[in-house]
Amino acid sequence: MTTNDNKGGNVKGIILAGGLGTRLYPLTNVASKQLQPIYNKPMIYYPLTTLILSGVREIMLISSPHDIPRFQDLLGDGSRWGVSLHYATQAEPKGIAEALVIGQEFIGDDSVFLMLGDNLIYGRLEFLRNGIAGNGEGATIFGYRVADPHAFGVVEFDADYKVLSIEEKPAKPRSNWAVPGLYVYGPGAAARAAALEPSARGELEITDLNRSYLADGALKAIPMGRGIAWLDTGTPENLLDAANFVHSIETRTGFLVGSPEEAAFRRGFIGLDAFEALVDSMPKSSAYRQSLDGVVAEARQDW
Ligand code: DAU
Repeated sequence: MTTNDNKGGNVKGIILAGGLGTRLYPLTNVASKQLQPIYNKPMIYYPLTTLILSGVREIMLISSPHDIPRFQDLLGDGSRWGVSLHYATQAEPKGIAEALVIGQEFIGDDSVFLMLGDNLIYGRLEFLRNGIAGNGEGATIFGYRVADPHAFGVVEFDADYKVLSIEEKPAKPRSNWAVPGLYVYGPGAAARAAALEPSARGELEITDLNRSYLADGALKAIPMGRGIAWLDTGTPENLLDAANFVHSIETRTGFLVGSPEEAAFRRGFIGLDAFEALVDSMPKSSAYRQSLDGVVAEARQDW
């Protein structure tokens, strides 16, 4: 089904992977934050895998003019994973909400799942699919309970999980619910983002956009359960924590966390033959390939 014969029913994905990455200096002198490794694969693989697992097949990656060619080298057109990857540049980091303005034509009349390229989600993703489904023209954000929320967007709920407030990096947070960098918007979000006033720091703030939906009674917030891991990777310490997390899970289970190949296969975006051919094209000495060899062998047995 193409976008046009499914007006408003399709969900596109945008991964925002720009920014200056100054907190990771000097790593980010060589390549942008989202190209850095988290344990055994580039950071961008993780949000890409999340979008594929959520069933999104048309994805736009936005980064700086300097880094876009590197993402294109790494990810190509997405066809090997059964997705279509589009690229766009953000001249300067003028705010997360600007991603919707940049992606306006790409989004068209569809809904969009906006994910930050430095966020890692692990666990059962039904809650995301629920967030994507059926919120019409409205917006859906998620809440994740953290011990120290002051470095994030913070959402305050009432007893029925109705949103009372959202604040960006409040000095005195009203709750422990951080807002992860994943947002779902119905048709019309780009125009709404374009109409925002830039903040004091000159950015189109994602929290201002979400607040505008809240003011119109069009914001839904879904608390993520404790079975989900959400990590962000903006500082060297976060990066190490995320690497250790991925290493622990992968060593324990033998499965990869954040493999677009495996996600595309499990989601049915590519068949077993295409998946096997993809795995066969990887260097034999790589542990990444060896893990995927195991998935192929298991699938062949069940065949
Ligand atoms: O990680 C979740 C948090 O992400 C949310 O809780 C906050 O509400 C949200 O504002 C954001 O906070 P950060 O402090 O992480 O925002 P930062 O400016 O660092 O940008 C997040 C990512 O998006 C980062 O990897 C760089 C990229 N980015 C950011 C901006 C402002 C862009 O590519 N372009 C931009 O213009």
